[in-house]
Amino acid sequence: MIQVANLVKRFGDATVLDGIDLAIDQGEIIVVIGPSGTGKSTLLRCLNFLERPDAGQLTLGDLDVDVTRATRADILAARRRTAFVFQNYALFANKTALQNIVEGLIVVNRWPKAKAHARGREILRRIGLTDKADAYPASLSGGQQQRVGIGRAMAAQAEVILFDEPTSSLDPEWVEEVLALMKQLAAERQTMLVVTHEMGFARDVADRVVFMEGGRIVEQGPPSQLFNAPRDPRTRDFLRKVLAAQPAIQPS
Ligand SMILES: Nc1ncnc2c1ncn2[C@@H]1O[C@H](COP(=O)(O)OP(=O)(O)OP(=O)(O)O)[C@@H](O)[C@H]1O
Ligand SMILES: [Mg+2]
Repeated sequence: MIQVANLVKRFGDATVLDGIDLAIDQGEIIVVIGPSGTGKSTLLRCLNFLERPDAGQLTLGDLDVDVTRATRADILAARRRTAFVFQNYALFANKTALQNIVEGLIVVNRWPKAKAHARGREILRRIGLTDKADAYPASLSGGQQQRVGIGRAMAAQAEVILFDEPTSSLDPEWVEEVLALMKQLAAERQTMLVVTHEMGFARDVADRVVFMEGGRIVEQGPPSQLFNAPRDPRTRDFLRKVLAAQPAIQPS
C-alpha cells in the first residue's frame, strides 16, 4: 500500500503540488494525466525524494514518514521501494544492457555478481532482449533502450514502478513495444504509477485515472467513468483537447 497525504512542493513562490492525497493499492495501475506544468513529474519525483517535498506524509509499505523529517535512512528506504522509469531512459552509456539492469542490485543491494547476473538474464528474457545482453545503449533502438530502462526498474523489485512519460521521447515506431511491455507488467499486477499522454493505454490498462491540474488532483476514477463521463469541466476541457489529437480513442 502506497499513500501520500497532503503532499506539498514549492519552487520559490510557486506551489507546484498543492496538497496531493493519493492512495494506491498493491497491484493497482494508476495513470496520471493533466496539462503541461501541472506537477505530474514533480509528484513522481517527490515520491522517491528526487525532490524534497515541503509537507506531507508518505507511506510506502512499512515505511511511514513525515517528509519534512525524513532521515537519510528513510530516503534510502523510500528509494528502494520506488523504481523510476525516465522519459530519456537514463542508461549508463558505458555499460551493457545486462550491466545497466544489474547495476542497482550489485551497488545498492550488494548482491554477488553471479546472482545479480542470473537475475539480469531472467529479466532480459522477460523484456525480450536475451540476445542484447552485451549490447551498449548506443547500439540499441530507442524502444530497446527504454525496455532496458524498464528492466532495470523490474530488477529493483520495488513496491511501485514510477513511469514518467516513458514513451514521449520515442520515435513512433518504438512506442508500441514499450507499451506492450508495460501491459505485460500490468497483467502481472506490478503496482504502477504512470504519467503518460497515451490515452489508449490509460483506457485499456489503468484501474484508475487521475487528472491533475494546477498542482491538485481535480478528479479521479476508473477510465470508463473519467473518459466517458468526466464530472469536472476542467477534465472535460482537457480530454476534449487530447482526444481530438488522438482520434482513435474517442469516447464511444
Ligand atoms: N527544479 C525546478 N525548479 C523550479 N521549478 C520547477 C522545477 N521543476 C519543476 N518546476 C516547475 O514546476 C511546475 C510543474 O512541473 P512538472 O515538471 O512537475 O510538470 P508536469 O506536469 O510534469 O509537466 P509536463 O507535462 O510538461 O511534463 C512547472 O511550472 C515547472 O516549471
Ligand atoms: Mg513532466
